[in-house]
Amino acid sequence: MGAKRDLVSILDVKDDLVGLLELAARIKNRTKAGEPYEPLRGKSLAMLFEKASTRTRVSFEVGMTQLGGHALFLSPNDLQIGRGETISDTAKVLSRYVDGIMYRAFKRENVQELARNATVPVINGLDDKEHPCQVIADLFTILEHKGGAFKQLKLAYVGDGNNVCNSLLLGAAIVGMAMTAACPSGYEPDAELLGAARAIAKESGSTIRVVDDPVGAVQRADVVYTDVWVSMGQEKEQEKREKVFRLYQVNSALLDHAKKDAVVMHCLPAHRGLEITDEVIDGPQSIVFDQAENRLHAQKAILSRFLGGV
Ligand code: CP
Ligand code: NVA
Repeated sequence: MGAKRDLVSILDVKDDLVGLLELAARIKNRTKAGEPYEPLRGKSLAMLFEKASTRTRVSFEVGMTQLGGHALFLSPNDLQIGRGETISDTAKVLSRYVDGIMYRAFKRENVQELARNATVPVINGLDDKEHPCQVIADLFTILEHKGGAFKQLKLAYVGDGNNVCNSLLLGAAIVGMAMTAACPSGYEPDAELLGAARAIAKESGSTIRVVDDPVGAVQRADVVYTDVWVSMGQEKEQEKREKVFRLYQVNSALLDHAKKDAVVMHCLPAHRGLEITDEVIDGPQSIVFDQAENRLHAQKAILSRFLGGV
Protein backbone atom coordinates (compact mmCIF):
# COMPACT_ATOMS: atom_id res chain seq x y z
CA MET A 1 0.00 0.00 0.00
CA GLY A 2 3.05 2.13 0.71
CA ALA A 3 2.58 5.37 -1.16
CA LYS A 4 -0.83 6.65 -0.16
CA ARG A 5 -0.79 9.82 1.92
CA ASP A 6 -3.50 11.11 4.22
CA LEU A 7 -4.26 14.62 5.44
CA VAL A 8 -5.64 14.01 8.93
CA SER A 9 -3.64 16.71 10.73
CA ILE A 10 -1.99 19.75 9.22
CA LEU A 11 1.18 18.13 10.60
CA ASP A 12 0.83 15.61 7.75
CA VAL A 13 1.84 18.37 5.31
CA LYS A 14 4.45 19.96 7.56
CA ASP A 15 7.18 19.60 4.95
CA ASP A 16 4.92 20.49 2.04
CA LEU A 17 2.85 23.34 3.45
CA VAL A 18 4.68 26.10 1.62
CA GLY A 19 4.62 23.97 -1.55
CA LEU A 20 0.85 23.57 -1.23
CA LEU A 21 0.41 27.33 -0.84
CA GLU A 22 2.47 27.87 -3.99
CA LEU A 23 0.42 25.26 -5.84
CA ALA A 24 -2.82 26.95 -4.68
CA ALA A 25 -1.53 30.27 -6.07
CA ARG A 26 -0.66 28.69 -9.44
CA ILE A 27 -4.02 26.93 -9.66
CA LYS A 28 -5.92 30.10 -8.69
CA ASN A 29 -4.07 32.09 -11.38
CA ARG A 30 -4.93 29.52 -14.03
CA THR A 31 -8.57 29.47 -12.94
CA LYS A 32 -8.78 33.26 -13.05
CA ALA A 33 -7.19 33.23 -16.51
CA GLY A 34 -9.82 30.74 -17.66
CA GLU A 35 -7.18 28.09 -18.40
CA PRO A 36 -8.47 24.55 -17.94
CA TYR A 37 -6.50 22.44 -15.47
CA GLU A 38 -7.76 18.88 -15.17
CA PRO A 39 -5.21 16.59 -13.51
CA LEU A 40 -8.00 14.51 -11.91
CA ARG A 41 -9.85 13.51 -15.08
CA GLY A 42 -11.81 10.32 -14.42
CA LYS A 43 -11.15 10.42 -10.66
CA SER A 44 -13.79 10.36 -7.92
CA LEU A 45 -13.85 11.70 -4.37
CA ALA A 46 -16.25 10.33 -1.76
CA MET A 47 -17.29 13.01 0.73
CA LEU A 48 -18.58 11.72 4.03
CA PHE A 49 -20.24 14.37 6.19
CA GLU A 50 -21.36 13.66 9.76
CA LYS A 51 -21.98 17.39 10.28
CA ALA A 52 -23.40 20.29 8.30
CA SER A 53 -21.24 22.14 5.80
CA THR A 54 -21.52 24.92 3.23
CA ARG A 55 -17.97 25.87 2.28
CA THR A 56 -16.20 22.54 2.67
CA ARG A 57 -18.84 20.60 0.79
CA VAL A 58 -19.23 23.04 -2.07
CA SER A 59 -15.52 23.82 -2.49
CA PHE A 60 -14.56 20.13 -2.55
CA GLU A 61 -17.36 19.26 -4.97
CA VAL A 62 -16.80 22.21 -7.32
CA GLY A 63 -13.03 21.73 -6.98
CA MET A 64 -13.27 18.11 -8.10
CA THR A 65 -15.43 19.09 -11.10
CA GLN A 66 -13.03 21.87 -12.12
CA LEU A 67 -10.09 19.46 -11.85
CA GLY A 68 -11.85 17.11 -14.27
CA GLY A 69 -13.12 14.66 -11.65
CA HIS A 70 -16.29 14.00 -9.74
CA ALA A 71 -17.40 14.09 -6.09
CA LEU A 72 -20.10 12.14 -4.28
CA PHE A 73 -21.83 13.56 -1.20
CA LEU A 74 -22.47 10.80 1.35
CA SER A 75 -24.38 11.26 4.56
CA PRO A 76 -23.94 8.61 7.28
CA ASN A 77 -27.74 8.46 7.61
CA ASP A 78 -28.01 7.21 4.06
CA LEU A 79 -24.97 4.94 4.20
CA GLN A 80 -24.96 1.57 5.95
CA ILE A 81 -22.72 3.23 8.60
CA GLY A 82 -26.01 4.60 9.98
CA ARG A 83 -27.13 0.98 10.48
CA GLY A 84 -23.95 -0.20 12.11
CA GLU A 85 -21.53 -1.05 9.28
CA THR A 86 -18.06 -0.34 10.63
CA ILE A 87 -15.85 2.53 9.56
CA SER A 88 -13.13 0.05 8.65
CA ASP A 89 -15.38 -1.96 6.33
CA THR A 90 -16.70 1.28 4.82
CA ALA A 91 -13.11 2.43 4.23
CA LYS A 92 -12.19 -0.83 2.51
CA VAL A 93 -15.26 -0.80 0.28
CA LEU A 94 -15.08 2.89 -0.69
CA SER A 95 -11.40 2.38 -1.56
CA ARG A 96 -12.48 -0.08 -4.27
CA TYR A 97 -14.58 2.61 -5.99
CA VAL A 98 -13.05 6.01 -5.43
CA ASP A 99 -9.64 7.70 -5.56
CA GLY A 100 -9.93 9.62 -2.30
CA ILE A 101 -12.21 10.12 0.69
CA MET A 102 -12.97 13.39 2.44
CA TYR A 103 -14.37 12.92 5.92
CA ARG A 104 -15.99 15.49 8.27
CA ALA A 105 -16.33 13.68 11.56
CA PHE A 106 -17.23 14.24 15.18
CA LYS A 107 -14.23 12.28 16.42
CA ARG A 108 -10.56 12.33 15.43
CA GLU A 109 -10.35 8.59 16.18
CA ASN A 110 -12.89 7.92 13.44
CA VAL A 111 -10.89 9.87 10.87
CA GLN A 112 -7.79 7.90 11.91
CA GLU A 113 -9.73 4.63 11.69
CA LEU A 114 -10.93 5.48 8.19
CA ALA A 115 -7.41 6.49 7.13
CA ARG A 116 -5.88 3.30 8.56
CA ASN A 117 -8.28 1.11 6.62
CA ALA A 118 -8.60 3.00 3.35
CA THR A 119 -6.14 2.27 0.58
CA VAL A 120 -6.84 5.70 -0.96
CA PRO A 121 -5.95 9.09 0.55
CA VAL A 122 -8.20 10.33 3.36
CA ILE A 123 -8.61 14.08 3.82
CA ASN A 124 -9.92 15.50 7.10
CA GLY A 125 -12.74 17.95 6.38
CA LEU A 126 -12.90 18.94 10.10
CA ASP A 127 -13.00 16.91 13.26
CA ASP A 128 -13.02 17.73 16.97
CA LYS A 129 -9.26 18.36 17.00
CA GLU A 130 -8.48 20.15 13.75
CA HIS A 131 -9.59 21.74 10.49
CA PRO A 132 -6.47 21.38 8.35
CA CYS A 133 -7.97 22.29 4.94
CA GLN A 134 -9.38 25.49 6.43
CA VAL A 135 -6.00 26.57 7.72
CA ILE A 136 -4.22 25.78 4.44
CA ALA A 137 -6.73 28.15 2.76
CA ASP A 138 -6.24 30.68 5.57
CA LEU A 139 -2.46 30.75 5.20
CA PHE A 140 -2.90 31.15 1.45
CA THR A 141 -5.23 34.12 2.12
CA ILE A 142 -2.72 35.71 4.51
CA LEU A 143 -0.02 35.26 1.88
CA GLU A 144 -2.17 37.06 -0.69
CA HIS A 145 -3.10 39.95 1.59
CA LYS A 146 0.10 40.39 3.57
CA GLY A 147 2.86 39.11 1.29
CA GLY A 148 5.11 36.13 1.71
CA ALA A 149 7.01 37.13 4.83
CA PHE A 150 5.17 35.01 7.39
CA LYS A 151 8.10 35.43 9.76
CA GLN A 152 7.33 39.13 10.05
CA LEU A 153 3.65 38.67 10.79
CA LYS A 154 1.66 38.19 13.96
CA LEU A 155 -1.74 36.52 14.10
CA ALA A 156 -4.04 36.99 17.08
CA TYR A 157 -6.79 34.44 17.55
CA VAL A 158 -9.58 35.48 19.91
CA GLY A 159 -12.10 33.00 21.28
CA ASP A 160 -12.47 29.26 21.69
CA GLY A 161 -9.33 27.09 21.63
CA ASN A 162 -11.10 24.78 19.19
CA ASN A 163 -10.33 22.70 16.08
CA VAL A 164 -9.66 25.77 13.92
CA CYS A 165 -7.45 27.33 16.62
CA ASN A 166 -5.45 24.09 16.97
CA SER A 167 -4.72 23.88 13.24
CA LEU A 168 -3.89 27.60 13.14
CA LEU A 169 -1.34 27.16 15.94
CA LEU A 170 0.30 24.31 14.06
CA GLY A 171 0.13 26.09 10.71
CA ALA A 172 1.55 29.32 12.12
CA ALA A 173 4.38 27.41 13.79
CA ILE A 174 5.21 25.58 10.55
CA VAL A 175 5.42 28.75 8.41
CA GLY A 176 7.18 30.71 11.17
CA MET A 177 4.41 33.23 11.88
CA ALA A 178 3.95 34.43 15.47
CA MET A 179 0.58 33.58 16.95
CA THR A 180 -1.14 34.48 20.19
CA ALA A 181 -4.42 32.83 21.09
CA ALA A 182 -6.60 34.58 23.66
CA CYS A 183 -8.92 32.00 25.19
CA PRO A 184 -10.87 31.96 28.46
CA SER A 185 -9.58 29.65 31.17
CA GLY A 186 -10.84 26.12 30.54
CA TYR A 187 -11.23 26.74 26.79
CA GLU A 188 -7.57 26.66 25.78
CA PRO A 189 -6.29 24.78 22.71
CA ASP A 190 -5.62 21.04 22.84
CA ALA A 191 -2.57 20.53 25.08
CA GLU A 192 -0.90 17.93 22.87
CA LEU A 193 -1.29 19.94 19.66
CA LEU A 194 -0.17 23.10 21.45
CA GLY A 195 2.94 21.25 22.59
CA ALA A 196 3.59 20.12 19.01
CA ALA A 197 3.13 23.70 17.76
CA ARG A 198 5.59 25.00 20.36
CA ALA A 199 8.18 22.38 19.42
CA ILE A 200 7.88 23.28 15.72
CA ALA A 201 7.99 26.99 16.57
CA LYS A 202 11.41 26.48 18.15
CA GLU A 203 12.72 25.26 14.79
CA SER A 204 10.91 27.80 12.61
CA GLY A 205 11.53 30.86 14.79
CA SER A 206 7.84 31.48 15.43
CA THR A 207 6.42 32.37 18.84
CA ILE A 208 3.31 30.59 20.06
CA ARG A 209 1.48 32.07 23.04
CA VAL A 210 -1.80 31.31 24.77
CA VAL A 211 -3.19 34.05 27.02
CA ASP A 212 -6.58 34.99 28.45
CA ASP A 213 -6.51 38.68 27.59
CA PRO A 214 -7.93 39.56 24.13
CA VAL A 215 -6.66 43.16 24.23
CA GLY A 216 -3.08 42.11 24.93
CA ALA A 217 -3.30 39.41 22.27
CA VAL A 218 -4.35 41.71 19.43
CA GLN A 219 -1.71 44.35 20.14
CA ARG A 220 0.60 44.67 17.11
CA ALA A 221 -1.36 41.94 15.32
CA ASP A 222 -1.40 41.90 11.52
CA VAL A 223 -4.24 39.38 11.44
CA VAL A 224 -7.12 39.12 13.91
CA TYR A 225 -8.95 35.80 13.64
CA THR A 226 -12.01 34.45 15.37
CA ASP A 227 -14.37 31.48 15.16
CA VAL A 228 -17.69 30.52 16.72
CA TRP A 229 -18.02 30.12 20.48
CA VAL A 230 -20.20 27.02 20.03
CA SER A 231 -18.82 24.49 17.58
CA MET A 232 -20.90 21.81 15.91
CA GLY A 233 -21.73 19.18 18.50
CA GLN A 234 -21.53 21.61 21.46
CA GLU A 235 -25.04 23.03 21.10
CA LYS A 236 -26.02 21.92 24.61
CA GLU A 237 -23.34 24.22 26.07
CA GLN A 238 -24.60 27.25 24.14
CA GLU A 239 -25.95 29.28 27.06
CA LYS A 240 -22.89 28.70 29.23
CA ARG A 241 -20.47 29.41 26.42
CA GLU A 242 -22.17 32.67 25.44
CA LYS A 243 -21.52 33.89 28.99
CA VAL A 244 -17.94 32.62 29.20
CA PHE A 245 -16.92 34.18 25.87
CA ARG A 246 -18.76 37.51 26.24
CA LEU A 247 -15.53 39.50 26.56
CA TYR A 248 -13.95 37.72 23.59
CA GLN A 249 -15.99 39.44 20.90
CA VAL A 250 -14.10 40.84 17.92
CA ASN A 251 -15.62 44.32 17.71
CA SER A 252 -14.33 47.75 16.65
CA ALA A 253 -13.05 48.57 20.14
CA LEU A 254 -10.93 45.41 20.20
CA LEU A 255 -9.75 45.87 16.61
CA ASP A 256 -8.50 49.38 17.50
CA HIS A 257 -5.74 47.69 19.53
CA ALA A 258 -4.37 45.82 16.49
CA LYS A 259 -2.19 47.34 13.78
CA LYS A 260 -4.02 49.96 11.68
CA ASP A 261 -3.74 47.76 8.59
CA ALA A 262 -4.66 44.52 10.36
CA VAL A 263 -7.00 42.19 8.48
CA VAL A 264 -9.87 40.31 10.08
CA MET A 265 -10.52 36.64 9.38
CA HIS A 266 -13.23 34.14 10.31
CA CYS A 267 -13.55 30.65 8.90
CA LEU A 268 -17.37 31.07 8.78
CA PRO A 269 -20.17 30.37 9.47
CA ALA A 270 -20.24 33.46 11.72
CA HIS A 271 -22.64 34.18 14.51
CA ARG A 272 -22.97 37.88 13.99
CA GLY A 273 -23.37 39.81 17.23
CA LEU A 274 -21.65 37.07 19.23
CA GLU A 275 -17.99 36.35 18.35
CA ILE A 276 -17.90 39.13 15.75
CA THR A 277 -19.94 42.27 15.14
CA ASP A 278 -21.58 43.22 11.83
CA GLU A 279 -19.47 46.36 11.81
CA VAL A 280 -16.23 44.36 11.81
CA ILE A 281 -17.21 41.46 9.55
CA ASP A 282 -18.66 43.86 6.97
CA GLY A 283 -16.00 46.52 7.55
CA PRO A 284 -12.98 47.51 5.43
CA GLN A 285 -10.52 45.32 7.33
CA SER A 286 -12.51 42.12 6.86
CA ILE A 287 -11.19 39.61 4.32
CA VAL A 288 -13.60 36.83 5.27
CA PHE A 289 -15.13 36.40 1.83
CA ASP A 290 -11.74 36.27 0.10
CA GLN A 291 -10.89 33.69 2.75
CA ALA A 292 -14.04 31.71 1.93
CA GLU A 293 -13.28 31.87 -1.82
CA ASN A 294 -9.79 30.58 -1.20
CA ARG A 295 -11.21 27.37 0.25
CA LEU A 296 -11.89 26.45 -3.39
CA HIS A 297 -8.38 27.23 -4.65
CA ALA A 298 -6.69 25.59 -1.67
CA GLN A 299 -8.93 22.53 -1.95
CA LYS A 300 -7.91 22.16 -5.59
CA ALA A 301 -4.24 22.26 -4.55
CA ILE A 302 -4.85 19.63 -1.85
CA LEU A 303 -6.83 17.40 -4.22
CA SER A 304 -4.28 17.72 -7.04
CA ARG A 305 -1.49 16.79 -4.65
CA PHE A 306 -3.19 13.94 -2.78
CA LEU A 307 -5.29 12.39 -5.55
CA GLY A 308 -3.26 13.39 -8.60
CA GLY A 309 0.31 13.35 -7.32
CA VAL A 310 0.80 16.86 -8.76
N1 CP B 1 -15.39 27.00 7.27
C1 CP B 1 -16.05 25.84 7.01
O1 CP B 1 -15.51 24.73 7.08
O2 CP B 1 -17.34 26.01 6.64
P1 CP B 1 -18.42 24.88 6.46
O3 CP B 1 -18.74 24.32 7.82
O4 CP B 1 -19.59 25.59 5.83
O5 CP B 1 -17.87 23.81 5.56
N1 NVA C 1 -15.19 25.40 15.05
C1 NVA C 1 -16.28 25.31 14.12
C2 NVA C 1 -15.76 25.44 12.70
C3 NVA C 1 -16.81 25.37 11.63
C4 NVA C 1 -16.24 25.46 10.27
C5 NVA C 1 -16.99 23.98 14.32
O1 NVA C 1 -16.32 22.97 14.55
O2 NVA C 1 -18.22 23.96 14.27
